[in-house]
Amino acid sequence: GDVAVLVPAAGAGVRLGPGRPKALRLLAGEPLLVHAVRRLAAAASVHSIVVAAPVAEITAVRALLAPIAPVTVVPGGAERQASVAAALAAVPADPEIILVHDAARALTPPALVESVAAAVRAGYDAVIPVLPVVDTIKEVDADEMVLGTVDRAALRAVQTPQGFRRAVLTAAHAAAADALTDDAGLVEKYGVPVHCVPGSEHALKITRPFDLALAEHLLAIAR
Ligand code: CTP
Ligand code: MG
Repeated sequence: GDVAVLVPAAGAGVRLGPGRPKALRLLAGEPLLVHAVRRLAAAASVHSIVVAAPVAEITAVRALLAPIAPVTVVPGGAERQASVAAALAAVPADPEIILVHDAARALTPPALVESVAAAVRAGYDAVIPVLPVVDTIKEVDADEMVLGTVDRAALRAVQTPQGFRRAVLTAAHAAAADALTDDAGLVEKYGVPVHCVPGSEHALKITRPFDLALAEHLLAIAR
């Protein structure tokens, strides 16, 4: 494998409601992070995995993941971007391709990991999986009055894993001024073109209770 994967998993999961940090919430009896790491480890290109975990859960996360795959676990930061930076600082020296993948996208198929890695290998410096936007999108003002309708044909919903040539991700993080919600955003600001590949509905981000219920159903019908 020529790919290292950084897994930001240090979030609280506020939108999921009260409970343990999101990466440790159970889906079909197993923590979300276990589902995510198992699928990453099943992708043949993946050489190493670095997880940024909640500071209070480092020992628990190491114990959880040890039977799944050889994984490095580091303390995450206050924002997603800080968690990715912490994982990036701990990544082994060899892999030339670095993927960043949300633990919250627990059901992401190994085939999507491979297709993002393959596009970087083929020559793109930055690659993101995307889906078309299905809803009509309106721009609104502070009073919830509609300002206009955005042309959704030109819009994409962005998932992870996002893939980067190592030097590009390292430089973009080093140059980062403010915190963004994805790594491709940093690379865009750094001035490097970002290429889209088809995403997967199974790579949905488990954000709200509805998403967790949907993920439970998806696992149940896959068995
Ligand atoms: N994440 C992280 N460190 C943070 C915040 C988020 O590693 N300080 C990770 C989450 O664990 C998740 C991914 O970034 O895997 C995407 O974030 P999100 O879905 O927003 O998760 P949470 O921040 O945990 O959820 P919420 O915003 O509802 O609290
Ligand atoms: Mg969050």
